[in-house]
Amino acid sequence: MMDGAQSFPHLFAPLEIRGQVLKNRIFSTGHMTVMLHDGLPTDRMVAYHAARARGGAGLIIIEAARAHASGDSGRPAIRAYDEACIPGYRRIAEACQPHGCKVFGQLTHPGREMPQAADGTHAVAYAPSAVPNERFHVMPRAMNGAMIADVVAGFGAAADRLRRAGLDGVEVIASHGYLLGQFLNPRTNIRADGYGGTFDNRLRFVREVLAAVRRGAGDAMIVGLRLSGEENDHDGLDQPEMLDIAAALAGDGVLDYLNVAAGTSAGLAGSTHIVPPMAYEAGYTAPLAAAIRARVDLPVFVAGRINQPQIAEEVLATGQADMCGMTRAMISDPEMPAKARTGQADNIRACVACNQACIGHMLNGYPISCIQRPETGRELEYGTMTPADTPRRVMVVGGGPAGMKAAAVAAARGHRVTLFEAGAALGGQVSLAQLLPGRAEFGGVTTNLVREVERAGVTVRLNTRVTPDLIAQEAPEEVILATGAVPRAAPVEGADSAHVVEAWQVLRGEANIGSRVVIADWRCDWVGLGLAERLARDGCHVRLAVNGMVAGQSIPQYARDVWLGTLHRLGVEIIPHVRLYGADEQDAYFQHVLSGEPVVLEDVDTLVTALGHSPVDDLAQALEGRDRGLHLIGDCLSPRTVEEAVLDGLRAAWAL
Ligand SMILES: Cc1cc2nc3c(=O)[nH]c(=O)nc-3n(C[C@H](O)[C@H](O)[C@H](O)COP(=O)(O)O)c2cc1C
Ligand code: SF4
Repeated sequence: MMDGAQSFPHLFAPLEIRGQVLKNRIFSTGHMTVMLHDGLPTDRMVAYHAARARGGAGLIIIEAARAHASGDSGRPAIRAYDEACIPGYRRIAEACQPHGCKVFGQLTHPGREMPQAADGTHAVAYAPSAVPNERFHVMPRAMNGAMIADVVAGFGAAADRLRRAGLDGVEVIASHGYLLGQFLNPRTNIRADGYGGTFDNRLRFVREVLAAVRRGAGDAMIVGLRLSGEENDHDGLDQPEMLDIAAALAGDGVLDYLNVAAGTSAGLAGSTHIVPPMAYEAGYTAPLAAAIRARVDLPVFVAGRINQPQIAEEVLATGQADMCGMTRAMISDPEMPAKARTGQADNIRACVACNQACIGHMLNGYPISCIQRPETGRELEYGTMTPADTPRRVMVVGGGPAGMKAAAVAAARGHRVTLFEAGAALGGQVSLAQLLPGRAEFGGVTTNLVREVERAGVTVRLNTRVTPDLIAQEAPEEVILATGAVPRAAPVEGADSAHVVEAWQVLRGEANIGSRVVIADWRCDWVGLGLAERLARDGCHVRLAVNGMVAGQSIPQYARDVWLGTLHRLGVEIIPHVRLYGADEQDAYFQHVLSGEPVVLEDVDTLVTALGHSPVDDLAQALEGRDRGLHLIGDCLSPRTVEEAVLDGLRAAWAL
């Protein structure tokens, strides 16, 4: 086997910090997993991190934990202010360190970034000053001196707990506009006492926190600070301010490293940089780290869309940073480091930055996973692949994501699998989704699944439409139907006389489009947003009429919001809360879903419908009498998204 370390000499060079050796330059940044019970790590979280340590990560930073009870927001987080956190931390450390992986904890306080509390009420939010928060619509209470001292002490006590749990380091969050960042920022810190006003006064709280953390952590533990290289929001810290802050804090001699990210939680625009979607180019935060690295005498870590070892190698080789955070890269492929090191880089399942099942789940309060790899977050169920008791002949019908995943897993478990696809290529609806503007990278889902299918030894038969006769002829023991879905043909009054086309036709370039377009978007997902962008860029006047509160309501905020900004810039008019019921030569007729009143959109050349999908299940109906070995998965069972399709495929193949 080729030695991949030669291809990635910088990535696999060890890094020594404070006498501890990180075996390589790949780390998993702190990220909330929502794998907690009552604010404490669960078996699921231990198994999740152990999988990444086993896969070769040099360092895992465990998710943001609350350093003080006043920071308890509705986001499920570890209660590091409670002694009860110690055993959970210890179990993660004991599961990861034997793989040569260092383990740090991460401490934070959200300050005014307080979404609703776990009981549904609005907790009092504390901040340096009573400056309102735009994103969560919170008016915080200014902290008094006693509270400042208590929170500082809380950070110190929490660091002491991490030390007693056997962790190797502790990272403090001053990034992303949370409490420490709020003290640093002259727009959110307007205090008139010793903690506000001058540059040094604004740094005072952070310095006190770091001193307390160092006391709690002791001399042996590594202590780092996470900063945003810039906060990318209207009252966020800009790059020159951040450079001065980084240089001053690095010069104090308390810190062992700086970890550079981007964005702020405080606004919708800034927050998309916390987990950057595919709209941002891979590795785009590296120049922010490089600018800081030029000003400080400390190792600088960086994260932000570094999704492949080649990109990480480039960041390191060009001296932009000393460690590369590759968090989603290891959510989508925990074995990424090991594959890169052993010459199997081509087999890495690269993250496509869709933000669907990782941060998308987290923001909705569900355990994180990955659309491409549903085993992630489900390590306790699917962590170790077990060979099938009895290898069987399996016929999988449909080469979309559901069928590909089912075929790959079934074959990997030892079944003899043939995958039939009616079209000329594998991919299913992903082939269409990747045609949306800015979504080409989504096609990586197909590339990665095709690779899995090939590696597992599945026999693939393209251009073959499966009929009941063919099934009888092949006589498989198990049939998995993954026949997908087609656009839903909803009744639209007057559609005969109007110019109505369907979203897929537009995506395939099969429709003539007039200059004044209305898109009727029922699902409020990527399709409506993407079509609006594409047609507006083609020069059309676009009205996007959505059956929801906001365009893109059904998709994760960190994928949607960049798009909404783009549509606004392009002059797309968004009309919320309307259901389509008719059209004629010139108008499109909607009804307001709340008032029931008609909403008539005039001067329409083309009405584009994006009304969701209907299952293709005629084969399933024809086979209904089959008494055993018939499984329906993906959209033919119920039209949903790629995530559920791949998960259905895994579950079906696991059960064989
Ligand atoms: C599910 C999820 C939760 C996150 N929670 C945290 C967190 O607790 N603390 C933090 O500093 N960053 C958090 N982040 C941001 C990541 O640390 C990281 O900066 C971001 O994912 C970009 O890196 P990547 O492109 O390598 O994924 C989170 C990211 C994800 C995907
Ligand atoms: S769900 Fe999407 S963004 Fe998240 S890790 Fe998987 S591929 Fe990457």
